[in-house]
Amino acid sequence: MSIKVMTVFGTRPEAIKMAPVVRELNKFPDLITPVVAVTAQHREMLDQVLQLFSIKPDYDLDIMCKGQTLFDITCRAMQGLNEVFVKVRPDIVLVHGDTTTTFVGALAAFYHQVPVGHVEAGLRTWNKYSPFPEEMNRKLTGALADIHFAPTLSSRANLLTEAVDKEKIFVTGNTVIDALIATVNENYQFTGSLANIDFQSKRVVLVTTHRRENLGERMRHVYQALRDIVTEFSDVEIVFPVHKNPRVRIAVEAELGGVDRVHLIDPLEYQPFANLLARSYLILTDSGGIQEEAPAMGKPVLVLRDTTERPEAIEAGTVKLIGTDKARVYTETKTLLSSNTEYQRMAAACNPYGDGRAAGRIVQYILWKYKLIAAMPESYACTLQ
Ligand code: UD1
Ligand code: UDP
Repeated sequence: MSIKVMTVFGTRPEAIKMAPVVRELNKFPDLITPVVAVTAQHREMLDQVLQLFSIKPDYDLDIMCKGQTLFDITCRAMQGLNEVFVKVRPDIVLVHGDTTTTFVGALAAFYHQVPVGHVEAGLRTWNKYSPFPEEMNRKLTGALADIHFAPTLSSRANLLTEAVDKEKIFVTGNTVIDALIATVNENYQFTGSLANIDFQSKRVVLVTTHRRENLGERMRHVYQALRDIVTEFSDVEIVFPVHKNPRVRIAVEAELGGVDRVHLIDPLEYQPFANLLARSYLILTDSGGIQEEAPAMGKPVLVLRDTTERPEAIEAGTVKLIGTDKARVYTETKTLLSSNTEYQRMAAACNPYGDGRAAGRIVQYILWKYKLIAAMPESYACTLQ
């Protein structure tokens, strides 16, 4: 007997975090028939990841359009996935995280009465509009899920608060750590514009922004603060791989275009990006995934958001939530660039998010659940590493 396991994803972070799961599913050809369906909610940024991890989707809905609204993504993904479900008739569907592809993938599975496994389940801010629409996407996906692969004990606790049956929750660690371990290499050689940066004598501040609730004035305030920082600190180079969203790109160009020692570059492929994280001095970001990756490498992170669903590294002291107020962003960044004591306080490496074996646990759990192996795998027990 074998089971058909279909993974559904569509954006860059889902692809990075699902790639280890797809690789693991491929290891059991006698027991598992893996099917990969991508919505391509992101086009170029998804393709970068598919190429790096040599994933060839069986179905590619190619739904992205420039300036897409949430309604565009939802309707186009739903329509496309319906056809895929009719053709594939999977035994179980795996979705990841909190994007609109995630929620629509789970909803389409429910309409076809196919069980849903939610990878990276249970993250919560408890604020409906922050992050928007991700908090609601993951709650709704959780409501539809049959198996919740929670990355940490705190995400498990969130699900228990929502009265999810504890028998349906399995703590795995986050698959992003699997991807990171497979990708970071201290001998990695940068190419292109990054090859000219002197990581020995300069301090690289790595910046990314894309959250929908930050678009507009909030992002502009962050960029204005960064302009002041780079003017004040002559040994700082800002490297800013700018998200493909045209609303982000226009604001970045308006506030930081042509500023000395500010490198505005296209989104990096995962391999150079992860290695850049490893060599940066400090990170400013509104990303979710980067809040998990940077602490594992002992890099302080200032989070440009008012809420986070990832409290673990904040509790450990490596990540600080600072919002987007211009004066606050300037002051917090300046403090870390000026005070070695403050910097060292945050730079202690901490990794509450995984041990690199999350994808293995997920696939073993599915095999066990479908009675294809006898033993249930051990869950991830975080001892801060
Ligand atoms: C999406 C997810 C968000 C996730 C983020 C990761 C939703 C609603 N949002 O947000 O949860 O954190 O991805 O980056 O699911 N674009 C391109 N090429 C690409 C990718 C994007 O041109 O490869 C442009 C398009 O104009 C697109 C816009 O970016 O309309 C925004 O993309 P979209 O997926 O709607 O939202 P993100 O902000 O990327
Ligand atoms: N990332 C990347 N190239 C970049 C910027 C980010 O490969 O230029 C990776 C990063 O390492 C992380 C993921 O993309 O794994 C985070 O994606 P994003 O910030 O777009 O989404 P979020 O995690 O906020 O959903």
